[in-house]
Amino acid sequence: MATLTVELGERSYPILIQANLLDHPEVLTTHLVTKKVVVVTNDVVDPLYFPVLSEALAGYEVSKIVVPDGEQHKNLQSFEMVISKLLEMSAGRDTTLIALGGGVVGDLSGFVAASFQRGMPFIQIPTTLLSQVDSSVGGKTAVNHPLGKNMIGAFYQPKAVLIDTHSLSTLPKREFAAGMAEVIKYGVIYDASFFLWLEKNQQAIKQQELVALQYMIARCCEIKAEIVAIDERESGLRAILNLGHTFGHAIEAEKGYGNWLHGEAVSAGIVLASAVATKMNWLEASEFSRIESLLQAFDLPTVAPSDMTYDDFVRHMRHDKKVQTGQLFFVIPKGIGKAVVTNKISEEVLRAILS
Ligand code: NAD
Ligand code: GLY
Repeated sequence: MATLTVELGERSYPILIQANLLDHPEVLTTHLVTKKVVVVTNDVVDPLYFPVLSEALAGYEVSKIVVPDGEQHKNLQSFEMVISKLLEMSAGRDTTLIALGGGVVGDLSGFVAASFQRGMPFIQIPTTLLSQVDSSVGGKTAVNHPLGKNMIGAFYQPKAVLIDTHSLSTLPKREFAAGMAEVIKYGVIYDASFFLWLEKNQQAIKQQELVALQYMIARCCEIKAEIVAIDERESGLRAILNLGHTFGHAIEAEKGYGNWLHGEAVSAGIVLASAVATKMNWLEASEFSRIESLLQAFDLPTVAPSDMTYDDFVRHMRHDKKVQTGQLFFVIPKGIGKAVVTNKISEEVLRAILS
């Protein structure tokens, strides 16, 4: 089993990664400080993984809340529904909330855990690649507002993150690929040798070889844990985790959430950010090609929708959380393995890339 720690003083917590780790109930129960547990999941993940989770929770008082599947349900209506059910169940701060599912379930449940009676214990059991390498770690929780994604939320760290790599075996191929965009992101922003490892291990990853998966997921979590430990609330360094997201969120919003998956939009966004970097002479043409080719190798989109104009992008990007005093900030690679956050991208460069 790979074990990592997110170092945040008294709020530090472990990330445990292994295939079929719920076959060992103590891996979970060690981190449970309450007898009462409520599992939040969705109607897709429930039949797949709730049975093994409920077996691991034998002896605990377990309830379940099932939310509808889909990004369109990561909203205040679902938030209120989950809170109402918790109240009907007489849940309290003596109850641990467990998120069992992808990033949608994790973000929604985390925000509920942060808000319900001003905070209840929370555990993440992420079941998609994207949630295993990114959203379950670091404490960002949120729901969407009709005017913008993740506009209502809180920083709230879980007590533990339990990652069963075997759960990826049931994930649709397209969702696995979407998670790979976030994986590749870590190589681009932080770790050139990890990027090289990804290039060399494409086949093993595609075939979901467990050793390769465990290494890959652990390295992503390690990088994220390192960044979050330095800058939990995104006052500086953490923003580099948003490589491709400013452009990507604009694509998601323009095309309607769910039409382009988050990871797919991030993939096209990474290529756009890399194109900006190449224009600024921060990235060699050969490095640009390596980034583009690796994303393509995992069947990810590397161009923006052809009907999206510069004005469409700018209209959506104005809602980005990195906007400060009206200025747009972008995460741009500086070679493979490093990225910077900058507001120094001229309109001319942006127009050239986005038109
Ligand atoms: P998702 O939660 O919608 O899951 C994708 C699909 O896979 C869903 O249909 C889900 O039901 C299904 N699924 C989940 N696990 C499965 C399994 N093991 N087998 C079969 N099907 C399974 O999407 P996602 O990509 O996991 O997460 C995207 C969300 O994460 C977005 O809302 C995004 O904003 C958020 N996010 C948050 C952070 C953060 O730091 N909090 C970071 C990145 C992304
Ligand atoms: N996914 C970006 C972050 O957690 O900061």
